[in-house]
This record gives sequence, structure tokens and C-alpha cells, in this order.
Amino acid sequence: MESGRTGPADITGKAVASFDGADDERLRELMQALVRHLHGFAAEVGLTQQEWRSAIEVLTATGHITDERRQEFILWSDTLGLSMFVDALANPLPERATESTVLGPFYVPGSPLRPYGADISEQSAGTPALVHGRIVDATTGEPIAGAELDVWQNGDNRLYAVQDPEAPEHHLRGRFQTREDGTYAFRAVRPVPYPIPDDGPVGRMLAATGRHPWRPAHIHVIVRAPGYQTLVTHVFDRESRYLDSDTVFAVKPSLVRTFVERDPDDPETPAGIDGPWCSLECTVALAPGPAREVADPGRTA
Ligand SMILES: [Fe+2]
Repeated sequence: MESGRTGPADITGKAVASFDGADDERLRELMQALVRHLHGFAAEVGLTQQEWRSAIEVLTATGHITDERRQEFILWSDTLGLSMFVDALANPLPERATESTVLGPFYVPGSPLRPYGADISEQSAGTPALVHGRIVDATTGEPIAGAELDVWQNGDNRLYAVQDPEAPEHHLRGRFQTREDGTYAFRAVRPVPYPIPDDGPVGRMLAATGRHPWRPAHIHVIVRAPGYQTLVTHVFDRESRYLDSDTVFAVKPSLVRTFVERDPDDPETPAGIDGPWCSLECTVALAPGPAREVADPGRTA
């Protein structure tokens, strides 16, 4: 036994070395870097024992509030910018490809396949919006037939169907396929800004630090096509509040588009609309490459 006092660096060294024997090289790298950075963080801020206890309480509360509908861990990742950071690391897309952004906590797989032009709202949800455009190859500009758009959004009550016990399960979500010429169209509603769920530990962090919980209005889409990288992104409404202060840092200027306001006597008014509506042209360019499964860490079903 060596004599001498034990300091913080000795403890870090032992904790890092404890993973030396891990067979899985990547797991060893992750765990050793995690220990180094955690200890480095504590050293940098001079973490007190009371603050350490508070952090444990916050993590405990995060676990308690999380269930198959509420994913507080993703909210932490989103509001700390980690979700966007990891997305940027994973998706270095070519120049002309449509940019990606976060999945968010409200994606639910298994939306119904709907026909060209169909309405995703299953009950009244706001100003009708005709969303249309093409899916194209980012390198050649050629249209992609049979690409799938998986869309979901909120309505004028700010809620996604998964948050709203009053809404039908498939309200404001659906899957669409592009036609031979790469075109798609669907009826949506104009999305509205919404606060992320702020009645839990993430909301308390935002309030304590003087941040707001709001996200600018957007429609979510995942675009999948064989032979192309799966794209997870949003389309943002150019007129929305909070474009410059999205609480999850997901706005990229190239994803901000114009919802064109239309009158009911406009000759292009879709059947069934008898009041003001709007249209949104949104062409999406996919990068060639392998498709991928979209992770859904919050739900196992
Ligand atoms: Fe969203």
C-alpha cells in the first residue's frame, strides 16, 4: 500500500481504469470518456454535495414522470441541444440535400397510409393547409417515385394526437407515397407554436434559468425511399413566433417555408374547403445512401 493522500485525480484515474478490461472496445471508449467528462465537469464548477444531491433528485423525477406517452429524457436532450448536436454528427448531408432536424418526442410509428391529397385531420383542427411538392434525388434532381412521407403535426389546440385524450389515434398524422413523377400532396392544417411539456423537471429548469418552453410552428416529416438516406426533418412556418428562439434549437434557415394564404374563392381551392386556407410548396431532396430505422427510444410498441 502506497502512502500519501488520495485526491480527485486519483479517483478519476481509478474509475477510468476500471473499464480497461471491457471486451467491447466501443463500450470501453464510451464509459471511460463519460467518467473523464463527468469528473471534469464536477471539477470545473466545483460541484457541491448539495448540488450533486439535487442532480440525483432531478434524474429521479425524470424517471418518474416518463412513461410510454411522456419522454422527459428526450426533453432534456432536446433542451440542452444534444439531440440537434447528435443529429448533426450523424447526418453530414451533401450540399443540395434537404437538411435534417430532430425527431422530437411525439413521433409514433404506424401512421395510416393515406391516398394522394387526403386530409390528415380527423376532426376540426385549424386553418386547412394544402402541402404539396416533389421528392427528388439531391445529386441528380431526378424525381423519386414511391418515396414515403410520414407526417405528424399539432392542431390549433397546440396538441399532438398522442398528447390529446380527446383526439382519434391517427388525427393529424399519416403516410403518403410519391407518384411516378415524384409528386405528393396532402391536406393538413396550419401548425401553431406550442410549449414543450413544462410541468416536469425540464420545465422547472427552463423557468429557473429564464428560458421559455416554446417551439415555433412546424410540421414533422420523415422521408424514406429505397437507396436513399432516411431524412428526419421539419418544415417551419415563416410567419411563426419563436423561429429565433426555438427551445430545442431545431430551426435551420433552409427549413423555413412560406404558407401562402388563400381565399375560399381561389380557383385552386380543394373540394370541401369553404373558408380561408393556405398552401405550402415543399420539395425535399434526398441524399443517396443506405436507409435507416428511425429510433424511437420512448416507446417499445
Ligand atoms: Fe413538433
